[in-house]
Amino acid sequence: MVRDVSKHLNAGAAATLSSGEVRVVSLPKPPRRDGERARPNYFRTAIVLRDHDGHIRAYVNECRHIPVPLGPRDYFDDGKRHLMCRTHGAIFDLADGYCVAGPCKGDRLIPIPFFVRDGIVTLDLTQALPL
Ligand code: FES
Repeated sequence: MVRDVSKHLNAGAAATLSSGEVRVVSLPKPPRRDGERARPNYFRTAIVLRDHDGHIRAYVNECRHIPVPLGPRDYFDDGKRHLMCRTHGAIFDLADGYCVAGPCKGDRLIPIPFFVRDGIVTLDLTQALPL
């Protein structure tokens, strides 16, 4: 099987991603679909983080209430146990991205598949991410 490596995005070295740290990675602009209006200012990013148990997580950096980035500076709540949207305060579980409190309670951040090879976190974008 031949993998389309052009759809793999280098998200940096796993070893330099500290517990409680968030790394923001620009995602490629999705292709325009037939009839879809251009969105010239529409840029999405991913957040790649290491939680306090040492697990790496990757999500689209976009709140499920309104599609705005979660940050921009601080991505965690005060206890550093959840991700937090700074616009209206939605709180998301680190492990699965579920919104546990706030205006989008019950919805979920969009997870991004990834793998770590040769110490590099690589986002697997072979499947289209939902809008
Ligand atoms: S935009 Fe994130 S909680 Fe409203």
